[in-house]
Amino acid sequence: MFRKERFAVPDRSLAAVATATTGHPGILSWVAEVAELTAPERIVYCDGSREEWDRLTAALVAKGTFVPLPAKPNSFWCVSDPDDVARVEDRTFICSEHEGDAGPTNNWVDPVDMRTVMTEHYRGAMAGRTMYVIAYCMGPLEAAEPKYGVQITDSEYVAVSMQIMTRSGAQVWEKLTGDTEFVKCLHSVGAPLAEGQPDVAWPCDKTKYIAHFPETRTIWSYGSGYGGNALLGKKCFALRIASVLGRDEGWLAEHMLILKLTSPQDKTHYIAAAFPSSCGKTNLAMLEPTLPGWKAETVGDDIAWMRFGADGRLYAVNPEAGFFGVAPGTGTKTNPNAIATIEAGNSVFTNTAFTDDGDVWWEGLTEQPPAHLIDWRGEEWTPESGSPAAHPNSRYCTPVEQCPSVAPEWNDPRGVPISAIFFGGRRATTIPLIAESFDWAHGVFTASVLSSETTAAAAGAVGVVRRDPMAMLPFLGYHVGDYFAHWLAMAEREGAQLPKIFQVNWFRRSADGKFLWPGFGDNVRVLKWALERLDGNAEAERTPIGFVPTAAALDLDGLGEGYRALIGAALAVDVDEWVHEIASIDEWYATIGGNRLPDALRAELAALKLRLAEA
Ligand code: GDP
Ligand code: PGA
Ligand code: MN
Repeated sequence: MFRKERFAVPDRSLAAVATATTGHPGILSWVAEVAELTAPERIVYCDGSREEWDRLTAALVAKGTFVPLPAKPNSFWCVSDPDDVARVEDRTFICSEHEGDAGPTNNWVDPVDMRTVMTEHYRGAMAGRTMYVIAYCMGPLEAAEPKYGVQITDSEYVAVSMQIMTRSGAQVWEKLTGDTEFVKCLHSVGAPLAEGQPDVAWPCDKTKYIAHFPETRTIWSYGSGYGGNALLGKKCFALRIASVLGRDEGWLAEHMLILKLTSPQDKTHYIAAAFPSSCGKTNLAMLEPTLPGWKAETVGDDIAWMRFGADGRLYAVNPEAGFFGVAPGTGTKTNPNAIATIEAGNSVFTNTAFTDDGDVWWEGLTEQPPAHLIDWRGEEWTPESGSPAAHPNSRYCTPVEQCPSVAPEWNDPRGVPISAIFFGGRRATTIPLIAESFDWAHGVFTASVLSSETTAAAAGAVGVVRRDPMAMLPFLGYHVGDYFAHWLAMAEREGAQLPKIFQVNWFRRSADGKFLWPGFGDNVRVLKWALERLDGNAEAERTPIGFVPTAAALDLDGLGEGYRALIGAALAVDVDEWVHEIASIDEWYATIGGNRLPDALRAELAALKLRLAEA
């Protein structure tokens, strides 16, 4: 291929030259194989140390990728290539051996074909670059069965970000002995450097592939440096590959935050909530309750791995160690805990704006924008510029343990027992503020038809309503029908004490486009009602779609008059809207394929239609 000609593949003994920090034969041979294919200049096994962080961030500063932030300790600003700002769903593939196993919601390519095509992209792709080998563990290292990954990458940005987002380095190398299993994660930005060719600040390739091989527990990512495409522990491993592990091993890998709530009576509950990307997980995970006496503590903000405990309850673990949060909309009023977390430093900001006094800025950080900024494209910006200064999907990457609201048990290898699960999306109409499912199967049904307007977290149109089952549409590693069956099967487990399921919508709007609900800290009012329902202590009205609070049952003490007046509209179950909704649900279910959509869900849909007809 052309690459081989342009970039002479060097000395094949290269892999041996690197001082390996591991004696794991599987890792050594894989590293040697990848080095031979991708032809890096050198190989570095990452130890995860502060010294390594300093070396890598200094290199990124020298290259012009990072700009140090004088206003925040040990923190950096960077902007990406303008075409590499979000996950690329149309370039994301589930390469299962059988096409049917990827299901109708995933792009599928035969694994042999995909390996053949990607191998040619990888050939010589790391020329002139350093290949980093990063060992990491998803979840606490002390877990009964820790899940390891090893990521090979030619990106310093990725190596630095993985230090924040995962438990990595020497502590993991120590445990990855002998034949310990690990998920193979290969990543290249796909931008080889010829002899003497200067690097660019954000190397990437126009062609991108984010490929998953579920049977061999392997991830191949090529051409992008963006978090969701390149930090392979996150969506690729912890959701796409882990959903397959969960199917095979009887647990759930979900796109959920984990939150600890303590009532004024000192009663504690843990909840999990699944919302599509950029629909409020991180904010709910760091909630500052507006109801006096309530305390909220963060366990996780994006991913929950849930396994049954001996008592039959589902225990959730946050597999990550950092937050990769949406910056716009994050301010001291909406999310003070996120602001305090990043103020503590040790953070990386991507595609935000940069202020004249050496700090970051984004829409929603302050009420008034600064008079002058450098925007995310690196251009001069003033409030008159007429375009956002920060990219709508700009992100902060920051360690969990710096978060003032972090729960002490966030790192507990046993996880926390989940009392309730919330599914939500961004819907301007139809979906009420909250509705409680009748039972587990009905809850699984509501989650299976979850819908949301698309956001800037993925490339493509924004604001289009689509079905996003369990907020997992872009993150499922296998057939969506089988996934629903796996969820339903949770109830068949002997002695299962399953959480109650609720659907929520913080984003319903009035006819003139205004939010009907203030959201953020006031969401505790909705959670309070849900927790009271667990003990049977809250009033509800039985509607065709589930139990909905009466306006009087919600604690609205201290809520502004404006929103009080809107509460009826926020809670309304409008039969006409639902009839319209059913048509779209029918279309969605029709795409799943008759033999793989569980009968129980088809029955739930039929029952809903009947209830609506009778309403
Ligand atoms: P995540 O990607 O699911 O973690 O979503 P985030 O918590 O980062 O939120 C994404 C965007 O939605 C941000 O701009 C938030 O400010 C906004 N957001 C989050 N929660 C709420 C809410 O309760 N109400 C409203 N109106 N906006 C919210
Ligand atoms: P989030 O995920 O938007 O759910 O926080 C990050 C991503 O899109 O990669
Ligand atoms: Mn988030």
